[in-house]
Amino acid sequence: MAQPQKGICAEPNLHAQYLMFNVVDDDHATIRQKLAQILNIFEHYDNEHYEAMVSGVVAIGSSYWLELYPGLIPMELAPFPDMQCEDRSAPVVPCDLFIQIRADRADICFAIATDVFALLKDEVELIEQITSFRYLDGRDLTGFVDGTENPKGMHKFDVAIVGDDDPDFVGGSYIHIQRYRHDLEKWNLLQVKKQEEIIGRTKADDIEFAGADKAKFAHTKRTSLKNDEGKSIEILRQSMPYGDMKVQGLMFISCAKSPKPFTDMLSSMIFGDEHGVYDKLLDFTTAETGAAFFAPSVHFIKQYA
Ligand code: HEM
Repeated sequence: MAQPQKGICAEPNLHAQYLMFNVVDDDHATIRQKLAQILNIFEHYDNEHYEAMVSGVVAIGSSYWLELYPGLIPMELAPFPDMQCEDRSAPVVPCDLFIQIRADRADICFAIATDVFALLKDEVELIEQITSFRYLDGRDLTGFVDGTENPKGMHKFDVAIVGDDDPDFVGGSYIHIQRYRHDLEKWNLLQVKKQEEIIGRTKADDIEFAGADKAKFAHTKRTSLKNDEGKSIEILRQSMPYGDMKVQGLMFISCAKSPKPFTDMLSSMIFGDEHGVYDKLLDFTTAETGAAFFAPSVHFIKQYA
């Protein structure tokens, strides 16, 4: 299998820098070449600081892809699914390039981000930069452990990486990002029992509620979906918290071998079930951005550089 980019299935890290760019230069050959150079930057820091568990992802926006690699289209490439129901929405903020930089050292993430920016700065405009961190024992800022039911070991690759059904894009991954902003004041007014009901797991020790005890509006109920054959629909979440004293939230990141699982889950959260029972977590957090990308294999990026 063509080698997937290291950051897609990487184990959780302590720190991350996320860079979102729009490309302002139509010299596509130069951009393709620079994307390959970004992989070299990741590799350089990984070799120099192997203890920092450096990993990265270079992902190309769904509409920019068509300009950058004309005639070579991943089978399921699609724009971010724009959804709106009552006061719940998934806004789209178009973005050409998404660079995920992760390591167990904040200084290394910063150094890599600086090198990437220096390389691209003449061709791009920086739309957003988010610094993320591991919070306590892998918790979201709501206080709940995030990532427990993620696929593990080699199963991550089955879930997140495109296989032989799309031969030109083997080793790639469909990425969806959303920056959520939490209303922690409102959330923290809830009793822990109510918070647990909304997540569908206990807070302190992260134990899943039995199926029969889970509310229909629980986040883990709305996102545990099955396909027509009764098989679980899965994504690999690589989300991390961000924030300061004024604004707090989650940088949500989904990696999958198809864009469909994310779209189905988001729809189940926002529109709810057949009775309109939606994900109550959305009463306490709001998506402020959203974008869809494809992260091709290392081989693909180097081949077309
Ligand atoms: C602010 C936004 C979000 C927060 C704070 C959040 C938090 C959590 C937490 C605490 C869990 C339980 C532990 C775990 O298994 O990871 C969870 C599970 C999960 N979340 Fe989210 N999540 C958010 C957004 C989303 C979105 C947008 C999706 C997909 C569209 C999603 C998909 C899932 C899935 C698939 C699970 C595992 C469900 C299971 O099998 O039990 N989450 N999330």
